[in-house]
Amino acid sequence: MKQYPSFSKGLNGCYIILMLMAFGCNSNNAGLQAQVDNLSHQTQKSYKPGLGEFMLGIQVHHAKLWFAGKNQNWKLATFELGEIQESVDDIKLYCTDRPEIKSLPMLYPALDSLTQAVKLKSLKQFQTAFIGLTKTCNSCHETTHHEFNVIKIPDTPPFSNQDFKAK
Ligand code: HEC
Repeated sequence: MKQYPSFSKGLNGCYIILMLMAFGCNSNNAGLQAQVDNLSHQTQKSYKPGLGEFMLGIQVHHAKLWFAGKNQNWKLATFELGEIQESVDDIKLYCTDRPEIKSLPMLYPALDSLTQAVKLKSLKQFQTAFIGLTKTCNSCHETTHHEFNVIKIPDTPPFSNQDFKAK
């Protein structure tokens, strides 16, 4: 009987410790939540390139690819093809809010044919595959109601400060 009060005192002590722990936990959670809110706010505000910006990049690589291939500069052509592929991957990652990207896979067979032509170092196959790629750009622009963005084989190199001939 004598032990009972001291046992309950011990229990009270336990409660206090538990409450302190719970309080500590809660304030920690609140701090973490504030950090999460702050981070997600920052992410929402951070700059993400839009589809049009990726397309501008692709436009440049499309033109450079043509002059690389025409000059049978297969190393540069491989590089430019890789850049187009990277832009396509980035579009898939960053432009999920654009329903048009459903049509992106139509580009894959055209890019595969070009990769094949560049691997074989065949100018003839390259030219055919490049026409195929350019047609696909326009097919997608038509499908996505951007038919006024007409892509063609370039007449002149896009930049005068780059040499497209193989070293
Ligand atoms: C998924 C379908 C699709 C494919 C494939 C595609 N485009 Fe586009 N393109 C679009 C859409 C949609 C826009 C409009 C983007 C916007 O709203 O800014 C666009 C816009 C453009 C623009 C205009 C950008 C500007 O601001 O002036 C260019 C240039 C362009 N594309 C080039 C290309 C080239 C070159 C290819 C092929 C290598 C290609 N596109 C393939 C859908 C596509």
